[in-house]
Amino acid sequence: MEDKKLIFSGIQPTGTFTLGNYIGAVRNWAPLQDEYNCIYCVVDMHAITVRQDPVKLRQNTLNSYALLMACGIDVEKSILFIQSHVKTHAELSWILGCNTQFGELSRMTQFKDKSQKHADDVNSGLFTYPVLMAADILAYNADLVPVGVDQKQHLELARNIAQRFNQRYGDFFKLPEPYIAEIGAKVMSLQDPTKKMSKSDENPNSVILILDDKDTIIRKFKRAVTDSETEICYRDGKDGINNLMTIYSSVTGKNFAEIESEFAGKGYGDFKLAVGEAVADHLEPVRNEFARLSADKAYLKKCYTEGAEKALRYSQRIVSKVYRKVGFVDRT
Ligand code: TRP
Repeated sequence: MEDKKLIFSGIQPTGTFTLGNYIGAVRNWAPLQDEYNCIYCVVDMHAITVRQDPVKLRQNTLNSYALLMACGIDVEKSILFIQSHVKTHAELSWILGCNTQFGELSRMTQFKDKSQKHADDVNSGLFTYPVLMAADILAYNADLVPVGVDQKQHLELARNIAQRFNQRYGDFFKLPEPYIAEIGAKVMSLQDPTKKMSKSDENPNSVILILDDKDTIIRKFKRAVTDSETEICYRDGKDGINNLMTIYSSVTGKNFAEIESEFAGKGYGDFKLAVGEAVADHLEPVRNEFARLSADKAYLKKCYTEGAEKALRYSQRIVSKVYRKVGFVDRT
């Protein structure tokens, strides 16, 4: 790989992404590939910290992989792989776990939230989830990690673990920095624009999935909750319209002033339809590419097999050094 900074990020295998995941994260990954060395990973091992149906997990993992490719991750430029294919993640995770305090993990807000939500299955994987995430990042000695706000605490912990390891065993790990995208807006629920758009929302009309067909997308936007005024402008208190403007802006590239004048004197109905059409048109090539890749199982397999080989080769060098540092005996 060329001498550029290294970016690492992981995404949960939910099978499809929401428009929020897409605009806020995944879409911004493709342009990074020119400026950085990028390693992207579908984190199926993280996924099993909550109960999964095995058949669905396998399908969702493959779909997520194909979807990342459809969103522009280029397997020639970047390393794209499935986490469970690369054993160094689990190996390093054990060592890092022995350098992480129980108290630190107890303070993770996501653990507290998830252990409430899944009260019948507070397993130790859920507790040590951030250690595996630290291993994902540190196994490549990544410089930068694009993450959303909900993962910032985990990244902070990864830095602390790296720092502690360096103190105990001598300088080795880079301290990974969060990569905050300049673009990449936060997309809110279409039914309650004060809440983040989320795949787990009970109301399917509140979330656009990037594999939704055009009619579905337009129908959901037509039902989007707005306000009782009539003016299309970005202003405090107009959460619904602000969200639609943000979405429209990010798929058309138009700024808010341009959008305001485009829709001056027009009604909310016209605006919602325009947003729906713009989003559907924008996502159409992604949907088509996903369909094409999904139909070509052999090619997909070649991509993830080669991705895993590259990821293993890269991370093995680093993890072998870690083994030596902690005092494990060389096998050969
Ligand atoms: N925990 C992240 C999430 O739920 C996914 C993830 C796993 C990740 N490993 C990572 C993100 C390493 C960045 C770097 O979104």
